[in-house]
Amino acid sequence: MSEILGGIFTSHVPGIGGAIAKGLQNDPYWKPFFDGFPPIHRWLARKRPDMAVVFYNDHGLNFFLDKMPTFAIGAAREYRHEDEGWGLSFQRPFAGIPELSWHIIKTVVAREFDPVMCQEMLVDHAVAVPFELLWPGTESFPVRLVPIAINTVQHPLPSPKRCLELGRAVGRALRSWQGDERIVVLGTGGLSHQLEGQRAGFINKEFDRFCLDNIGPNPEALLQYDSLDLVELAGSQGVEILNWLAARGAMAGEVVELESNYHIPISNTAAATMLLECREPVPA
Ligand code: DHB
Ligand code: FE
Repeated sequence: MSEILGGIFTSHVPGIGGAIAKGLQNDPYWKPFFDGFPPIHRWLARKRPDMAVVFYNDHGLNFFLDKMPTFAIGAAREYRHEDEGWGLSFQRPFAGIPELSWHIIKTVVAREFDPVMCQEMLVDHAVAVPFELLWPGTESFPVRLVPIAINTVQHPLPSPKRCLELGRAVGRALRSWQGDERIVVLGTGGLSHQLEGQRAGFINKEFDRFCLDNIGPNPEALLQYDSLDLVELAGSQGVEILNWLAARGAMAGEVVELESNYHIPISNTAAATMLLECREPVPA
């Protein structure tokens, strides 16, 4: 039986990839952010997940404003990173697990979600930066990937409720999968940030705290807001918290917070990292 071991949530600011490439992890600017990761590395070494379901948003690499799926699920044998202009060059490919991708697609469609199914898919910094953070320096990544892209870019965005429910449907698919994969779910992006316009540089510590306090024990608390409220409260890119909500939705049963780190700013972003562990195997 496959098992969902836990969820890892992290900002995916492209500059983090640049800092890794230059070995700046101990630089005073970066250290408070990178210091959130050694406990997560130890957890990964102990739990040894072999696959990662990643909820993230594509920033114009694979989907642009002319064609923007609300939800897209990768079902490729392999994924590659390409740079969208940040100067990032990640070489390690991401092995896929198409049989499981199709199982997830079938399960969520049966539950009335309508994802775009991608047998070819490029992944951007929102997948590659978290993988570099979690598995630095290995020859190849020790996990296979199912990428699930949520539109947080082109309005209208899916609602927080819809994203949590998508995650729940994916979680059901994972728990009904007959393989013996050891699964970690990832939610990438956030927390509050806005890159453009009059509010460029906007950060909302109080709302971030609310998200960090509730995402584990009470994710429904975030459902009092709609997606436009999230723009107002978290900034136009802070809506990436939708990815965190979906990843949280995939985790069922008792969830325990093991690690959390919050640091302002990394680039324009209130950077946050969190590790939640699933405590009980939950029946499908
Ligand atoms: C930044 C943050 C993001 O989430 C992103 O996708 C790109 C840039 C930033 O703060 O620089
Ligand atoms: Fe982003």
